[in-house]
Amino acid sequence: MELNEAVRSRISVRGYKTDPVSKEILTEIIETSLHAPSAMNVQPWEITILAGAPLDELRNANIEMLSSGTIPVTDFGHPKPYEGVHKERQRALGFELYRLLGIAREDKEKRMEWTMKGFRGFDAPAMIILSADESLEARLASSDIGGLIQTICLVALEYGLGTCINGQGILFPDTLRKITGVPESQKIYICISIGYPDWEHPANKLVSDRESVETVTRWVGFDQ
Ligand SMILES: Cc1cc2nc3c(=O)[nH]c(=O)nc-3n(C[C@H](O)[C@H](O)[C@H](O)COP(=O)(O)O)c2cc1C
Repeated sequence: MELNEAVRSRISVRGYKTDPVSKEILTEIIETSLHAPSAMNVQPWEITILAGAPLDELRNANIEMLSSGTIPVTDFGHPKPYEGVHKERQRALGFELYRLLGIAREDKEKRMEWTMKGFRGFDAPAMIILSADESLEARLASSDIGGLIQTICLVALEYGLGTCINGQGILFPDTLRKITGVPESQKIYICISIGYPDWEHPANKLVSDRESVETVTRWVGFDQ
């Protein structure tokens, strides 16, 4: 796939077919994606890939924790709520997603069901978890891991696979460690759901907005 087309056509896939993704394909995707840059080439990322019974165990554990009222939290603490324009963009995304899913604002039960789907990694057949040694500065490791995330999502397209970068799946990090063997000495940054997209799923019809170049860019030293 041509690069511009790949970047423009990648979307978050939140509905998957049950077909498994082979270890061979996942290996090829990771091998290519490891060409992503990192500060001083430290390559901070540690990669754990889950499928089958352990992934089901993680999904179930996440739902159990959520249902029992345990407060979700990352290895980096509680995220700050968005404000101003960022809150508006977050709201617009949620509004459009729930509209496509046919879930009304006041339908708390259906909203909770959808939230749980996120905690289940959208029932994708595989999940890629990215972690890094706790000694690494989070600012740099985050940007390095961000580059790897996008590279994985783009390379996956070449195999007809969809992805959803998923912050919800890692919100009970200690449970995740128990199931996956990610050591205490590593902080868990993010996970990526990956699988063959179910293009009939209404959530996969979502096309998220982007601001214009003019809105987000300050030009300095250009004639016009
Ligand atoms: C760090 C990060 C965490 C994310 N976590 C979630 C998540 O927990 N649940 C979800 O539905 N989407 C999640 N997303 C996907 C974003 O909502 C999505 O990338 C954004 O709305 C833009 O849409 P697009 O990916 O379809 O272009 C996450 C994306 C990023 C980059």
